[in-house]
Amino acid sequence: MTGPGSITWPPAPMKTERLLLREPEAGDHAAFIELFTSPEVGTYLGGPRPRDECERALPETPERRPGLFVIGLDGAMIGAIEFNPRDAERRSHVRPDAGETELGYLLLPEAWGHGCAAEACAAALGWFADALPGEPVVLCTRTANDRSMRLAAKLGFAYRRSR
Ligand SMILES: CC(C)(COP(=O)(O)OP(=O)(O)OC[C@H]1O[C@@H](n2cnc3c(N)ncnc32)[C@H](O)[C@@H]1OP(=O)(O)O)[C@@H](O)C(=O)NCCC(=O)NCCS
Repeated sequence: MTGPGSITWPPAPMKTERLLLREPEAGDHAAFIELFTSPEVGTYLGGPRPRDECERALPETPERRPGLFVIGLDGAMIGAIEFNPRDAERRSHVRPDAGETELGYLLLPEAWGHGCAAEACAAALGWFADALPGEPVVLCTRTANDRSMRLAAKLGFAYRRSR
């Protein structure tokens, strides 16, 4: 089995210059709701989710699962990073006959423009490369999502295809 499901989880919290990558905690509940209901965050992700639906659906302690990191700054959650294994239907042409993992990132708008997404993703990708050496990582983003396109390029992702 490949992908985040086959790794030892959780790793020890990871420190970067400014940030901490860690598992979700009960105190992150409000920040997850902000993330999912923010119109800015949802612009290229199908729109924000309704707040009441989110409040009903999100458990008090946000779900913990392999590959899901909260990004903390000065003790507060500013975003999340996730690695998800791709199933056979969604597999791209990067390695169609084998496993590949998709990277996703979401930061609260007040944390944009400070290089925090790049700093957190670089650390998370380093962890992933150690945990699953050689496993390809892909990411999907709308070409109109300028910030995300710039981030992907900065992280070293090569542009493959426009749909
Ligand atoms: C995509 C997203 C994570 C990018 O966030 P971001 O803050 O723009 O990304 P970065 O961490 O790379 O920061 C880059 C900016 O920080 C600036 N910056 C300021 N201080 C910095 C520092 N110390 N180090 C590096 N960059 C710094 C850079 O100049 C750059 O500005 P620019 O984009 O105007 O040129 C964010 O826009 C987001 O959460 N969007 C909603 C979710 C989404 O669409 N996700 C994509 C699908 S997975």
